[in-house]
Amino acid sequence: MWKGRFEEDTAQVVQKFTQSLDLDWRLYKHDIQGSVAHVRMLGKIGIITDAEAAQIADGLKTVLNEIESGKFKPSEELEDVHMNIENRLTELTGAVGAKLHAGRSRNDQVATTVRLYLRKRLLAIRAALLSLLGAFLDRAQKHRLVIISGYTHLQQAQPISLGHYWMAWFEAFLRDCERLEFAARSLDECPLGSGALAGSTLPLDRDMTCRLLCFDHPTRNSLDTVAQRDYMSDYHHFASLFAVHASRMAEDLIIYATQEFGWLKLPDSFCTGSSIMPQKKNPDVLELIRGKTGQVIGHTVDLLIMTKGLPMTYDRDLQEDKRGLFASLDTLDGILEVLPPLVAKVEVDARSARSALEKGLGLALATDVAEYLVLKGVPFRDAHWKVGKLVRYCIENGKPLAGLSVGEMKEHIPEVEADVADILSLEKSVERRDTYGGTGFEQVLSQIERGKGLLKAKEAELEIEIARIESIESIEGIEGIEGIK
Ligand code: ARG
Repeated sequence: MWKGRFEEDTAQVVQKFTQSLDLDWRLYKHDIQGSVAHVRMLGKIGIITDAEAAQIADGLKTVLNEIESGKFKPSEELEDVHMNIENRLTELTGAVGAKLHAGRSRNDQVATTVRLYLRKRLLAIRAALLSLLGAFLDRAQKHRLVIISGYTHLQQAQPISLGHYWMAWFEAFLRDCERLEFAARSLDECPLGSGALAGSTLPLDRDMTCRLLCFDHPTRNSLDTVAQRDYMSDYHHFASLFAVHASRMAEDLIIYATQEFGWLKLPDSFCTGSSIMPQKKNPDVLELIRGKTGQVIGHTVDLLIMTKGLPMTYDRDLQEDKRGLFASLDTLDGILEVLPPLVAKVEVDARSARSALEKGLGLALATDVAEYLVLKGVPFRDAHWKVGKLVRYCIENGKPLAGLSVGEMKEHIPEVEADVADILSLEKSVERRDTYGGTGFEQVLSQIERGKGLLKAKEAELEIEIARIESIESIEGIEGIEGIK
């Protein structure tokens, strides 16, 4: 299509090396979407007649059908999805099809196509993320009164509600959801009309193509439009933090389900066995989540490195932006298919969670005793020192903290009174941590209630967004927007 100025044919190896079909063929539907909007706009501004615009749109519909029915196979000589579709259109419609590319370059075309494609994929990811949030809320509700040890440095620290633990992940993935929404907003502008880099001498109506494709506004600077991939980086930023959270949580669940911790029960249907050891139940799904998420972070770094050295504006390097993007999207889809149902089925052995704390002599209550002394007027540093001594006594004598008599405690800490017995239980310890956002059972309950409200609002927003985007998934939908047909 661009061979006019060349004396030699392109070398075969060059064709093979520069083609992007293996990557971008999956964009065919969204490429056609963009073309329909463009050609309808050309008709409206009189660059082509309305009849020609209709003919081209019909031709594009035929190409779409041919692709979806497997009748049309793209060819590598035509380099990419865009040229393949345009070429097929011209085969079908003759001279009329050759008018489609007026006022357009593949540079603004690919920028538009990828945004349309990514916008669609993000909707599915958003829906799956919301179902993950729902699973956390459900588990939090179910396990709100179950007490486990909270850890710092993976050492028993203070008793917490298991519901509180699930709500911690709810918060992390909720932030991911917000980062995803940001990425969706950042792609919500229409590049069409930016041309190769500088706009067009034709009187293109950029607002019209923008409206037809349901973007919020046209991009504001044509150079920036064809050069930038920030909107993709915004997606990757979301994906990377999601990956970090998913991997970190997977690691937790793997550890808690070991025989040594032993209080978390992973669903059988999400575990696998060993080919040799009959007793094994392995957390492979979680391990693979941990294993796959590194790639997601890698794709983020890949794009940043690829773009940081590029001269303004479009450079062919940018063709490679899709490799990491698609791989990352596919990995996230995979993770989000297994993670929500897995979380929804995680159970707990409350007794063994408790006995883990008891094995630790209930020393996780030490902070409670120190704070009890603070309430009696003992300066905190003194209280810390005194309780530290008491802890040492417990360890040396193998006595649980809650098993000491008041007299025994008084020997070490004269300020202790009979009412110390009121605080020395795991339930009391959790219940009394009633600061806003703390693990107190009532706090957790209100976190859950708030979370439910947020989730509902997000589900409603997403539904509206899905309806908006779905409405232009078909050519008829695009043409329906301004009553073109
Ligand atoms: N396949 C190309 C890409 O993905 C399309 C744009 C090609 N533009 C160009 N000036 N060669 O980036």
